[in-house]
Amino acid sequence: MELVTFDRDRDLDAAKRVWKEVGWVRSIGEAGWLADFLDGSDCVVARVDGEAECVVVCANGSIRYEEFPDTATDLSMCAVTAVTTSHVARRLGAARRLTALSLAEQAQSGAEVARLGMFDQGFYDTVGFGTGNYVNRFMFDPSQLKVTHPFRAPKRLTKDDWSVMRKAMIARKRGHGSCVVLPEGFSKGEIQHMESPFGLGYFDGSGGELTHFIWGEAEAENGPYSVEWIAYQTTDQLFELLALIRSLGDQVYSVHMQEPAELQFQDLIDKPFRNERSRRGSKFETYQSVFATEQLRILNLQSCIEKTRLQIEDIRFNLVLDDPVRDFVSDDHNWQGISGDYVVTLGENSFAESGNSPNLPTLSASVGAFSRMWFGIRDASSLALTDTLDAPIDLLEDLDRGIRLPTANSGWEF
Ligand SMILES: CC(C)(COP(=O)(O)OP(=O)(O)OC[C@H]1O[C@@H](n2cnc3c(N)ncnc32)[C@H](O)[C@@H]1OP(=O)(O)O)[C@@H](O)C(=O)NCCC(=O)NCCS
Repeated sequence: MELVTFDRDRDLDAAKRVWKEVGWVRSIGEAGWLADFLDGSDCVVARVDGEAECVVVCANGSIRYEEFPDTATDLSMCAVTAVTTSHVARRLGAARRLTALSLAEQAQSGAEVARLGMFDQGFYDTVGFGTGNYVNRFMFDPSQLKVTHPFRAPKRLTKDDWSVMRKAMIARKRGHGSCVVLPEGFSKGEIQHMESPFGLGYFDGSGGELTHFIWGEAEAENGPYSVEWIAYQTTDQLFELLALIRSLGDQVYSVHMQEPAELQFQDLIDKPFRNERSRRGSKFETYQSVFATEQLRILNLQSCIEKTRLQIEDIRFNLVLDDPVRDFVSDDHNWQGISGDYVVTLGENSFAESGNSPNLPTLSASVGAFSRMWFGIRDASSLALTDTLDAPIDLLEDLDRGIRLPTANSGWEF
């Protein structure tokens, strides 16, 4: 098996075949948008008998770390946007080795954190990822949204507006965990591949820029509709969008959408339990589902800790970090994961140095578990129960008290 950088002339048709086989497109012809999607991203392939049979794609971007808005920092992020193996190359270790190779290359090019949406829990743990927080998704009847905010007639958005929608996503209101995916091709590809899209928005920027919008799939006349992208710069704009969604309720019986970071969405739904029970099993059922579907890992420990600003008294400890990715990265990469012994200080000026201090308590953790703790996904004490993380009780309690971050919300799915 050959692990190499994607060569468009040589590998594009094979990559389309892989996506057909994994069911991401229904026909090779439909995979035309793949060329756009790959444009500007870093792609590696595993060739078997000279044909690309496994494709891994990473896009550069940023992810926000924010205890409070005035200390927010953006970290350079590698978004793993696709990991796919064809039917003839399964269980050869291609996906894991290519993902590890991508992480090494991205870390060497300056990415501080990697993030992805998982197909299931477990696989990416083997290359150092830790599970993110729960994400609330709602299927609701738009006519039952309790929103009285006024709204204006919106402008219609089409696939041709991918560039303005991308810009609005980048300029949107952001909080802890929010992501930006930079390559233009990523946005263009994602938008082109939608089958029955609908888009509505408002161009309120001082230069006429798109400020707030919704973009998604309209499955059938009465729905379900799904809102895939939503962007706004103020909560006033968010409520205008919600009022707009409500206005579709004369025709559309159900809308699927992720909970916006700012609010508890259930507050805005009239009689959520009556609706859920009476529509159970129907095409237009309404419900709330909660799963953790995203994962992240630190790629550069020193840099991530240095950018961590917590308004707390310093917490200092030894960190013994274990990074399983080392088993899958070939020796010719400088980056071999971040296993090692460190002395970490968390506070207003955080830093991590290599070494060990005999007078400090020790936290031992896998990189996935440590990444979860650092990003505020779960308390250290909770991770000690279900993940690979261990420390004396006093240190666990100090970390529980010290790392109190808002719930991470990526706001841009990939
Ligand atoms: C997921 C996928 C990429 C894996 O491809 P692959 O090349 O067969 O994977 P690898 O050979 O590198 O690894 C397979 C190993 O992972 C293990 N594995 C798979 N799912 C797992 C899980 N949820 N938890 C733990 N291990 C898992 C397998 O048991 C196998 O273990 P083994 O090496 O001990 O036999 C492939 O099944 C695929 O393309 N699926 C459809 C597209 C998709 O969902 N992609 C992921 C997008 S996030």
